[in-house]
Amino acid sequence: MTLENKVALVTGGAGGIGLATVRAFLRQGAKVVVADVDEVRAKAAAEEVADEGTPGSVASVGVDVSVFEQVEAAVAAAVDRFGRLDVMFNNAGIAGGKPLLEHDPAVDYAPMIRVDQDGVYYGILAAGRQFRAQGGGGVIINTSSIYGEQAAELAFTYSAAKAAVISFTRSAAYELAHQGTRVVAITPGRVATPIINQFSPELRALFASELLRNTMTQPEEVADVVAFLASDASNVINGTVVSCDDGYSV
Ligand code: NAI
Repeated sequence: MTLENKVALVTGGAGGIGLATVRAFLRQGAKVVVADVDEVRAKAAAEEVADEGTPGSVASVGVDVSVFEQVEAAVAAAVDRFGRLDVMFNNAGIAGGKPLLEHDPAVDYAPMIRVDQDGVYYGILAAGRQFRAQGGGGVIINTSSIYGEQAAELAFTYSAAKAAVISFTRSAAYELAHQGTRVVAITPGRVATPIINQFSPELRALFASELLRNTMTQPEEVADVVAFLASDASNVINGTVVSCDDGYSV
C-alpha cells in the first residue's frame, strides 16, 4: 500500500481523526492539504507534521465546508500547490444535540445539517469535478458514523446528516464510476477525539464499554483504514460503508 504521487485534501484536518489521517497519508508518501474551519489551527497542524512526510509535502487552507465556494476554493488551493487532487477526505463535522422536543429548528437542525450533510455534498461535487477535469480517477472518502445507521441519544439531527452521507456515498459512487472515481464512507464508532469531550465522563465511560475491546477507538486506528481506502490497494471497494466501530454494531 502506498500513496506516493497522490495529493490529498483532508477537511476537519486539524481535528482528531483528520490530523491522524494527515499523518497516515504523509507516512505513505502523499502530499496533503490540511483544511479546517479554524485556519490558525490548520496552519499549526500542518507545521506540527511538516517533518513527517517528504519535505514540502504538507500545506494548509482555511475552509468552512458549509459554504460551497469555500470548498471549491480549497480544492483549487490544493491543485495550485501540488498540481492535482487524487484523494478527498470529507471528514469535517460537528456533533451534539438536544432531546428532539427541546429543539429550536434554527439552532438544533439547520446549522448541523449545513456542516455535516451539505459539507459532504459540496466536497463530493467539488472533488468530482476536479477529478473529471484531470481525466477521471480519484477517491472520495466520507466520514459518516454508527449514528448514520441507527438511532441514538441526543442525535436526531446528527443521525439524519450521517445517514445522508451514506446515501450520498452510494449515489455518487454510482454516478461517478464512469469516470473511474471511487466513493466510500466510513462509520467510526466511539473515537477518542475532542468531539467526544463535550459528553460527560459517565457517558464517555458508557461509550467505551459498548465497544468489544471495552476501550475507545484511537483516531490513528481509523486513519489507517482511511489510508487503505485512499490507496490503490482498495480499488475494488466502491460505493460501500466501511465500518470502523470496533464491533459496536455487531
Ligand atoms: P474533532 O472535533 O476532533 O474534529 C472535527 C474537525 O472538524 C475540527 O477540527 C473542526 O474545527 C472541523 N470543523 C468543524 N466544522 C467545520 C466546518 N464548518 N468546516 C471545516 N471544518 C470544520 O472530531 P473528530 O472525532 O475528529 O471528527 C471527525 C469526523 O468524525 C466528524 O465528521 C465526526 O462527526 C465523525 N465521527 C466521530 C466520531 C467520534 O467518536 N469521535 C464517531 C463517528 C463519527
